[in-house]
Amino acid sequence: MIIRKYFFIVTFLFAFHSYCTTPLAEQFKQTGYIELCDEHNGSATFDALYTLFDQFIEFLQKNPVWKQKLYAVKERFIRSKDRNLYSTEFFGFYDESEQKGRRQISFYYSTHFHTFICSRYPEFNTVAQLAQFFNACSEIQKPYPSIFKQAAIELGIESIFSSPSNSAPLLLKVVKYLPSYTCTKPHYDGTAFSLFLNSTDDQALRLSPYKSAFTAGDFITPVRKLTRSDRQNAVLLIPGTLLTEFSIYPTPHIVMKSSKTRYATIAFAMKPTYASPCKQELPRLAHLESLE
Ligand SMILES: [Fe+2]
Repeated sequence: MIIRKYFFIVTFLFAFHSYCTTPLAEQFKQTGYIELCDEHNGSATFDALYTLFDQFIEFLQKNPVWKQKLYAVKERFIRSKDRNLYSTEFFGFYDESEQKGRRQISFYYSTHFHTFICSRYPEFNTVAQLAQFFNACSEIQKPYPSIFKQAAIELGIESIFSSPSNSAPLLLKVVKYLPSYTCTKPHYDGTAFSLFLNSTDDQALRLSPYKSAFTAGDFITPVRKLTRSDRQNAVLLIPGTLLTEFSIYPTPHIVMKSSKTRYATIAFAMKPTYASPCKQELPRLAHLESLE
C-alpha cells in the first residue's frame, strides 16, 4: 500500500512537471486547467462508486425517515468546529431530482463529516446502502489532498491550507444528472481548487480560461491527452475563487445537458476558516441556448 501510494505521488509529480514546462499559474491563465494522471483510481472504481450511489439514493428515497435523519445530522455537523475547516455548509445529501432547473442528486462527502456520523450516530453503520457508499467515498478521496498540496506549493501559496492537520480540507462531490437536467449558467467554484475526477460523459463539461468578459464560444470541452483505463484516470485541475487574493483567477465552467443519466465525481479543495460565498455566478451568456 505504501509502495502504491509512493508510486501515485511520483506519477503525479511526473505528470505535473511534464505538462508544466509552463509554470502552473501561467497554465491556468492560458487554458484554465491542467490535466494530470491519476494512477490510484481508474474508471472501474468510479463505476463501482456510481452503483453504490444508486443504491444509496434508492434507499433514502424509499426510507424518508433515514433521509430526514441524514439532513438532521448534517445540520448538527455544520454547527461543530470541524465544519470551520471547510468554510462551507455543503455537506451530505441533496435530492434535487424534482426541482425544475436542477434535476440532479448529489452527495458532498468529507472525512470529518463521515467521522462525525460514525462516532455519534452508529446506527448509520448498520445500513449497508449507507455504510458502503460512505466507505467507498472515504477510499476514493485519499490521494487527492496531496495533489492540492503539491499544486499550492507549485504556486507558492502553500499557507492556504494551514490547519491543525496541515492537510488540504477536501470535499468529494458525487453527482447524478437526470435526463431532464438542463444546462445552467456558467459559474466559478467557491474553492481553492476543483479536481474533475471522473464523468460518464466528458463532453458535458465545458470551460474557459478567466477573462473580463465571455462569449459562448469561449467555453470548450477540454482536449484529453492522457490515456484512461480501468486502473488509470486523467483528471482536470482548475482554480476556484479562493485563489483570487493571490492573483490567480477562477476558471468558469458549464455542465451541458445530454438527455441521458450521467454521473460525475469532483474533489474540491476548501480553505480553512475562510468566510466566503460558496459559488459566484457569471452573467448569463447571451447565446447560451446555442450551446444546449
Ligand atoms: Fe462547478
